[in-house]
Amino acid sequence: MELLNEMSLEEKIDQMLQMSGMFYEDEGVLTGPVNTAGFTEEEIRQAGSVLGSVGAEKLTKIQKEYMEKQPHHIPLLFMADIINGFRTIFPIPLAQGCTFHPALVEEGAAVAARESAAAGLHLTFSPMADLVRDARWGRVMESTGEDAWLNRCLARAMVEGYQGRESLREKGRIAACVKHFAAYGAPMAGRDYNTVELSERTLRDDYLPAYQEAVAAGVAAVMTSFNTLDRIPSSGNRRLMREILRGEMGFGGVVISDWGAIEELCRHGVAKDNREAAKLAVEAGVDIDMMTSCYCKNLRGLIEEGIVSEALIDEAVLRILRLKNELGLFENPYKDADASEENALALCQEHRQTARNMAVETFVLLKNDGILPLEKEPEKEKIALIGPYVSSKEIHGAWSMFGNPDTSVSIADGLRNKGFEKILSAQGCGLTEGFGRTAEDSGKLLREAVELARSADKVVLALGEHRLHSGEAASRADITLPADQMELFRNVCEVNKKVVVVLFSGRPLDIREISEKAAAVLAVWMPGTEGGNAIADVLFGDANPSGKLSMSFPYSVGQVPVFYGQFRTGRPHTEGVEEKYVSRYLDIPNKPLFPFGYGLSYTTFAIGPVQLSAQHMRKTDRIRVAVTVKNTGAVSGQEVVQMYIEDVHGSVVRPVRELRGFSKIELAPGEEKEVCFEIAETMLRFHDIHMNDVSEDGAFKVYIGNSSETANGASFVLDLR
Ligand code: BGC
Repeated sequence: MELLNEMSLEEKIDQMLQMSGMFYEDEGVLTGPVNTAGFTEEEIRQAGSVLGSVGAEKLTKIQKEYMEKQPHHIPLLFMADIINGFRTIFPIPLAQGCTFHPALVEEGAAVAARESAAAGLHLTFSPMADLVRDARWGRVMESTGEDAWLNRCLARAMVEGYQGRESLREKGRIAACVKHFAAYGAPMAGRDYNTVELSERTLRDDYLPAYQEAVAAGVAAVMTSFNTLDRIPSSGNRRLMREILRGEMGFGGVVISDWGAIEELCRHGVAKDNREAAKLAVEAGVDIDMMTSCYCKNLRGLIEEGIVSEALIDEAVLRILRLKNELGLFENPYKDADASEENALALCQEHRQTARNMAVETFVLLKNDGILPLEKEPEKEKIALIGPYVSSKEIHGAWSMFGNPDTSVSIADGLRNKGFEKILSAQGCGLTEGFGRTAEDSGKLLREAVELARSADKVVLALGEHRLHSGEAASRADITLPADQMELFRNVCEVNKKVVVVLFSGRPLDIREISEKAAAVLAVWMPGTEGGNAIADVLFGDANPSGKLSMSFPYSVGQVPVFYGQFRTGRPHTEGVEEKYVSRYLDIPNKPLFPFGYGLSYTTFAIGPVQLSAQHMRKTDRIRVAVTVKNTGAVSGQEVVQMYIEDVHGSVVRPVRELRGFSKIELAPGEEKEVCFEIAETMLRFHDIHMNDVSEDGAFKVYIGNSSETANGASFVLDLR
């Protein structure tokens, strides 16, 4: 507070600007004005935080020069997008959702924090807690999926992984920034940056809980979203930022706009110019303007003319200074920046191992007719590796700009590491349609692959989306594989029936034909640095797949948004029953191809009946729910036991079921364990007819199984009298 009182208005406003590190050379020297965004060199020089620059030496230099020039020697904050790892790249967040393993997700975030803290970073723009239900949206890859409960658990895990549970000053910790507040994951028609239309109830019941959990976990910052909600863009949405985020959720940290989002208030048409945009944003409580000159060019004038109160600036700057202080930057502005440690930690064996363990747990075995696992002895069966992903190291996902693909392990490398000396491989086709090849070349690639497939006992066919076909500004209307890859698939299947498809993607895809014709399908998403090793572990049975879908795979794009927690209609359709006036499609089923929570294993599990400690529950009671789970197969494996609750009647329409607990257990062959959950009244709450967050009397059903479609259930009654 003392410091704030000494600062001039100009100095305060400088704190509220964030500039990209692209204005600095590699050695950390400011290159002078790059005026595309209309900034003066002075404005760039004075900005209180820098985005997207890393490297201990470089950031140390930038920090030193900056502080020397500051009248109060206030340190800079360095922020960047460390989404799924820094140098050691982990699977994309959507894949991390499939682990249903918060401790592992936390460990991944902790590794990313250690590596990036040593490179001088202070804050990451992660986790992205946006709920996603439309696979056309490219940014589903950055979310942990379609379910509010799972997203909550994993948003907390990531915040705790980055920040630790003690203090941001701790070595190897960085601050986290949850994004994009709010409901960026629900753009109409899956088109990035598009309008969001959600009811207040859906927003509160489904979309807000994950951000709220990050806030409850102590997240240091929140980023606004690009979209509108109720026709109001977030960066100028006073009610959302002040009343809901700060008032209801009790968030006291820094709010930063998304890139350019304050200026975009003009393009949305809610501000007539940048000055009005600055006014709307600062009144909404947005503390930092990322990459526009709205604040730095207009706030002074707005205050001098008495249009904006200086108290709003003070409040914002205090929050920014407080974060700098919580990171310990006033005592040590370089925090953990240390070039030798940066090198030692990057891609070290321990971090690689964590990435490999995590990757294994993210893979979802969608189909297996018994072909997997493959034989480990190369002499016993001839395996052909075919497809554009066989040797590809571009398996990091769209948001991994600090990871070097050269350091990652392809599938072919993974097999070599398993001791396969001679690898029979063929590319078959390119990753993207016809790119850079003549028809003649394409024909040759295809023929070579088909010949190899014909001569092999089994084929591993590595197909998938290009890594840049998901991520920001990468929405797709057609979510099938490119035609070249489908042609390869069909030709290979004609000459060999034993085809295992290893599917790379940043989103659920329409893989209907593949799932019908292939003997096995393993979804590996964008698996990161250790992808190829982890894939080889699973293909050859050194690891047993245990991933469960964090987002449903649609039957066809015409179904999306499709998710398990649908709402009841007045005319429900029963699959397989022919009726006219019910809620259904004439040409496709209502159900997704593979639902949320689904995933196979190399073993089988029997889940016993659901046992409740009581059939009657008062407000303060807790019902204990138990099932026995037995490994009935021949190998040990992990199972994700999932508990769903159905609220049979409500004052408003309730979802058909909602995830309210999960537990991942490991069982040896023949081993049996009891898995218990507890149901508390708070887990039954929703926004009722009066918009109060309450539970309501009446019947509930509890389902426990290994996918969202389980029918294994029992009932109880909630009695609030
Ligand atoms: C993205 C954010 C990201 C920011 C900074 C924006 O385009 O929407 O998620 O954190 O850029 O790189």
